[in-house]
Amino acid sequence: MNIFVVDDYEQLSKKAAQVVAQRVQAKKNLVLGLATGSTPVGMYQELVRMHENGLVNFGLVTTFNLDEYVGLGSDDSQSYYRFMQANFFSHVKVEKSFIPNGLATDFVGECSSYEAEIKSNGGIDVQILGVGRDGHIGFNEPGASRSSRTCVVSLDAITMQDNSRFFADISRVPNRAITMGIGTILDARECILLANGAHKAEIILRALKGPVTELVPASFLQTHENLTVILDKDAAKKIISCQICVRV
Ligand code: F6R
Repeated sequence: MNIFVVDDYEQLSKKAAQVVAQRVQAKKNLVLGLATGSTPVGMYQELVRMHENGLVNFGLVTTFNLDEYVGLGSDDSQSYYRFMQANFFSHVKVEKSFIPNGLATDFVGECSSYEAEIKSNGGIDVQILGVGRDGHIGFNEPGASRSSRTCVVSLDAITMQDNSRFFADISRVPNRAITMGIGTILDARECILLANGAHKAEIILRALKGPVTELVPASFLQTHENLTVILDKDAAKKIISCQICVRV
């Protein structure tokens, strides 16, 4: 595990974008797993800036998003489909992009075809992740199994509360999502976990330094052989004394 601790959100966004750009430069047809939420917004802005300045070319890159709310489609402003359009795909041309379909009529079929699509594209090379305050990665909430694959899950009360900031009120937050499983995520050849803010410090400590347990799904990342963690100093404040921290 490599942990980078940077001063603030701007530095985190730049560092994450630099790492992604390096991976794309090293493999032009990279298969890149993407996350939504507040954490990666600055990374996308930086990647768009790099793309506009000719520093990185995503033209041959294939992307797979982690998750989507059940019931929200491309016409819904809070869907992750729309998030990705607004933050990345309307600015940067990629070869192919996949996002789970929140309006699927057959969710079992949707989940298995998402897994099959990942496989037929050669598997995910690099997976970007944020973490929920309850330890979720993707929308794999506490209790999710280490071997889970893409599936429909119920969202925890804490996740619905946290994500209600994007909706008119909490009653509008979907209570289910379609998400890559933990097994799907851990199959990526590299995982990059991003976290910023003091509100993530406790879960970062539990995820990276606590026991590996289904109660903290992000703790399974400790078992990944190629994990990069990029934190701002607020998110890192409870692990700051660890031996493996690298300041950049
Ligand atoms: C988003 C996702 C989630 C978020 C997590 C943190 O696609 O899969 O696991 O990464 O909920 O969200 P933010 O970044 O809003 O704190």
